Amino acid sequence: MTRARDERDWWRHAVVYQVYPRSFADSDGDGIGDLRGITSRVPYLAALGVDAVWLSPFYPSALADGGYDVDDPRAVDPRLGTLDDFDELVAALTDAGIRAVVDIVPNHTSDRHAWFREALDGGPGHPARARYHFRDGRGPDGDLPPADWRSGFGGLMWTRVPDGQWYLHVHAAEQPDLDWDHPEVRADFERTLRFWADRGVAGFRIDVAHLLAKALPEDLPGEAELERLAPGEHPFVDRDEVHEIYTGWRKVFDEYDPPRTAVAEAWVEPHRRTRYADPAGLGQAFNFDLLRADWDAAEFRAVIERNLALARLTDASSTWVLSNHDVVRHATRYGLPQGTSERPQDGRDWLLSRGTTPSLDRARGLRRARAATLLLLALPGSTYLYQGEELGLHEVPDLPDEVRQDPTFRRTAGTDPGRDGCRVPLPWRTSGPSLGFGPGTAHLPQPAWFAQSSVEVEQQDPASTLSLYRSALAARRSFPASDEVVWHVAGPGVLHLERAGLHCVTAFDRAAWLPAGRVVLASEDLQGARTLPPDTTAWIDARPRRSEDTL
Ligand code: NOJ
Repeated sequence: MTRARDERDWWRHAVVYQVYPRSFADSDGDGIGDLRGITSRVPYLAALGVDAVWLSPFYPSALADGGYDVDDPRAVDPRLGTLDDFDELVAALTDAGIRAVVDIVPNHTSDRHAWFREALDGGPGHPARARYHFRDGRGPDGDLPPADWRSGFGGLMWTRVPDGQWYLHVHAAEQPDLDWDHPEVRADFERTLRFWADRGVAGFRIDVAHLLAKALPEDLPGEAELERLAPGEHPFVDRDEVHEIYTGWRKVFDEYDPPRTAVAEAWVEPHRRTRYADPAGLGQAFNFDLLRADWDAAEFRAVIERNLALARLTDASSTWVLSNHDVVRHATRYGLPQGTSERPQDGRDWLLSRGTTPSLDRARGLRRARAATLLLLALPGSTYLYQGEELGLHEVPDLPDEVRQDPTFRRTAGTDPGRDGCRVPLPWRTSGPSLGFGPGTAHLPQPAWFAQSSVEVEQQDPASTLSLYRSALAARRSFPASDEVVWHVAGPGVLHLERAGLHCVTAFDRAAWLPAGRVVLASEDLQGARTLPPDTTAWIDARPRRSEDTL
């Protein structure tokens, strides 16, 4: 089925560019990126050719977790601007034909949120505590945590407050989890959705969408027991009741014309993901499967086929992601040895701490990253790009300990280097106090090698990764947004798919012949050859050529 690119369906095949606001562009020189900085770069986003911009949180926050610790979800952090600045940004994006998507963080607030302060001030038994998960501790004096659950950020998931009670936080202690059985919690988030939708936001990215519903029995199971539970049985991961929340949200989205969209960040089994992507719920869910896959033809094909099938089940469209603000940049992942202990788990790798990356092959990593991106952009569904990947940026592995900001670094006593290495402010120019990021010093230091990957350098170079992304996004638009993929026979280590007349061939670990047709684009310079070397993708237009056709 070929879908018209109408207003309501814009998200199905959209290219969505993730902006991590604090590291994108800084207009006032305080070292922190801001909304005016983003507005000043709208022409860049338009020239890149993206359909939408997803803004990671820009709300008031102590930055205990890069802004995912939200003090007030209906305001702008004064360091990042004002609501007027937000409106100006949305207006500039709209004028450029780009939609805005904002991040909603519903699982937790920050510990500075008015509700949490009220809960602390009120003491045990106060009704304000019911908006969170407060418990008495175990042991005669209650000084043992209610359960031994360990946070993925390091340390325990329970923290004791001065009056002796404990509260639950799946992430950092500064991110207390909300109790979604509380009607005020539900009502307040619907208010937040409307607040941003009324300001012209087209869609929402839902943070840890699989964690909101919780059923915490009197006797909490221990950590070891949690790991044995089947999906749906866990007291707070991927519970079936969570979908009741999203059914309610769908009604809110549908109050608008066109209806607002949402994409779930849900780290769940692929077959459970469909429920988040249900049209009666959030409508779309991130598929992180390629982000976890090795650079391997068979693995890529299995992931692609499975996700296209899952998308058909719900009438959603798939999402494709290789990088985001939580994982090691894909140019770096693909430059690390595969299938060894050095392979990043969930995108992170202890080898990346303190610059000890002896086996990182930067050139090979970038070559594969470019090939992988072209393959992604040939697929049906939406593609999410993370700021800086269009410059071919590598992870910054060797940030000094004292500048690291990620709570995982602190909470694991440095065992996990954390995610700052992919959040270093973008290089726009080859010189200046922060390589054109802004007039001041950047909040995370940029390495000297960033200058060679700056926008200033890459936009003048037709062989740069920036030029490749621009050409690929332009060429993608010139093909119909079909949902159908045909796989052609290809040798081992090679994938060859066709979609609406566009043939995409990726040579993983051995060379491949190109099919007949005009080479539209290749991830490396083929110098006119009809063979594709390993670690390369090419797009071939096999449509009958008409004289007026241009790409
Ligand atoms: C997922 C976000 O992507 C990540 O950056 C954040 O730390 C956690 N959720 C907690 O909000």
